[in-house]
Amino acid sequence: MLTVQTPAKINPVLEVLNRRPDGYHELALVFQAIGLYDQLSFERKSSGVELNIEGPSDLAVDDSNLIVKAARLFIHEVLNDSTGVKITLRKTIPMAAGLGGGSSDAAATLKGLRWLFETELSDEKMNAMASGLGSDVNFFLTGGAALGTGRGEIITPWKSSGSLPVLLIKPSEGLSTPAVYRSGKASLTSGEKAKNFKTLLAQGDAASISSHLFNGLEPAAFYLRPEVELIKKRLIQEGALGALLSGSGPTVFGIFADMAKASAASQKFEGEGFEIVVTQTIPTGVEKL
Ligand code: C5P
Repeated sequence: MLTVQTPAKINPVLEVLNRRPDGYHELALVFQAIGLYDQLSFERKSSGVELNIEGPSDLAVDDSNLIVKAARLFIHEVLNDSTGVKITLRKTIPMAAGLGGGSSDAAATLKGLRWLFETELSDEKMNAMASGLGSDVNFFLTGGAALGTGRGEIITPWKSSGSLPVLLIKPSEGLSTPAVYRSGKASLTSGEKAKNFKTLLAQGDAASISSHLFNGLEPAAFYLRPEVELIKKRLIQEGALGALLSGSGPTVFGIFADMAKASAASQKFEGEGFEIVVTQTIPTGVEKL
């Protein structure tokens, strides 16, 4: 039995450059891992892929689940269907939230199975399998902080910021990523903001980082869910140095000067049906426990 933890992410910058002929959008985005984790355990079995979820979850455990897809792909491509695996997921990262939870679980499955079966599998092959599973999966193979280009799957690792305090507020109802992209409301920019963020992250100053946050999907998410814009405004009122939609939403994150301020602000959102998480940025990715 092998157990791993795998983090969620926020995107301090997400720039949409254009819509590509294949229907995806060309992006330049900054990924930053945060200290909110799903846990996955892997056990060998003779054949097939079995997924169990611990705790309450309405997540499907059939072939539509990204963990099952990743495990089937790995067993077929790397192990020639010679064996099977039983996977147990302890889900903590909110779903359909813009926090990359599904992609993180898929990356953890690829890395977990590589460890479990002790296979000689190149990073190139892992990356190719990851990008076939989803645009955000490649980032989670690396973790920490990184620039994403292409549709988000081309990853350049960056030095991560220090432990920046982050407060996450997620409205109860999720938001569909394709719906956000297809709304036609994204603002298009050149990609310079994302590329210029490298120095800011390395310096790790919460105030400078907070004053350069940008997400071109905000107009789309605010249009589809006006409540999200109000959450952003409230985070600033409650003392965040900066606040931004995470990925395609609907989670909004606020960056705070210290953990005490983040915790104090979190209390102002209680009792309204939000999922609320106080955490911090981390320099790591999938890790064995
Ligand atoms: O790659 P992934 O399966 O995570 O993407 C989900 C959906 O998000 C895509 O089907 C597409 O509608 C949208 N998307 C996009 N451009 C990207 C990434 C995602 O349009 N770069």
